[in-house]
Amino acid sequence: MLDIDAIQAHCKQDPTVREWVREVLFFDCLRSTNRTAMEMATIGMPGGVAIFAESQTGGRGRLGRHWFSPAGINLYLSLFLMPHQPARTFPFFSLATAVALVQTIQKIAPCAARIKWPNDIVIENKKVAGILLESVTMGGQTPPLVIGIGMNVNGDDFPAALSTTATSLKIATGNVVDRSDLARELLTALSEQYRDLQGQDSFYRLIERARSLCQTLHQRVSVRTPRATFEGWAEDITSEGSLLLRMGDGRTRKIPLGDMVHLREVNENAPGH
Ligand code: BTN
Repeated sequence: MLDIDAIQAHCKQDPTVREWVREVLFFDCLRSTNRTAMEMATIGMPGGVAIFAESQTGGRGRLGRHWFSPAGINLYLSLFLMPHQPARTFPFFSLATAVALVQTIQKIAPCAARIKWPNDIVIENKKVAGILLESVTMGGQTPPLVIGIGMNVNGDDFPAALSTTATSLKIATGNVVDRSDLARELLTALSEQYRDLQGQDSFYRLIERARSLCQTLHQRVSVRTPRATFEGWAEDITSEGSLLLRMGDGRTRKIPLGDMVHLREVNENAPGH
């Protein structure tokens, strides 16, 4: 079980965490921590809440996918925030979350974790954590922001559909990881990243950090967007957090969001490779 008291005490003691998280809630089982956080947001509750669950029966992934959420071995966390920044800056929270995840993994379970743009964390091309941002419009007011994080920590068994694409910290390091230490470190890293979004040049500095931790850059990729799928060379992350893709005809295209395939992986996993 997560050490609830230790995590709550940490949030009270660490001044940066206190700024972002005023309440930490734990549940044995929820349908989805994001769903609970969105319900709180929709009924107008004050933000600054971190919601942990030991398991989820309907964990939500991006693009309507399911997030595999077995009990007692992973982290399922949603932060419900009421940021002062306008909604157009919310994608930066996603990138800041990705940076915080990599920093936390490097500290608690050192291994080659990297950001797979825009918001997956991978170790040797296998996904170890994912991020799901959700929000609602609130009639002119700054909308709430829900940041959902799922991290595969101590599992070594995945359903067949995930077995070639998912990994866990335990698989990557060979060690069982203390989930409560991980949760505390993560809340600190997230709060520091979100705090840094407020300063001057903040987005520029975030993009610099994300570039240095990003595995997607400087390789051929295929990106599926709601409008089309684009193939090209991942050249850079722009100052708005978009992926700058150099297409076959030499022109560049900015992709604000998409579902990414690193083409080298496809080739490596293809029969005969
Ligand atoms: C992805 O598809 O990569 C995003 C996965 C996000 C999963 C987490 S688990 C905690 C939170 N609650 C949910 O229902 N989803 C997010």
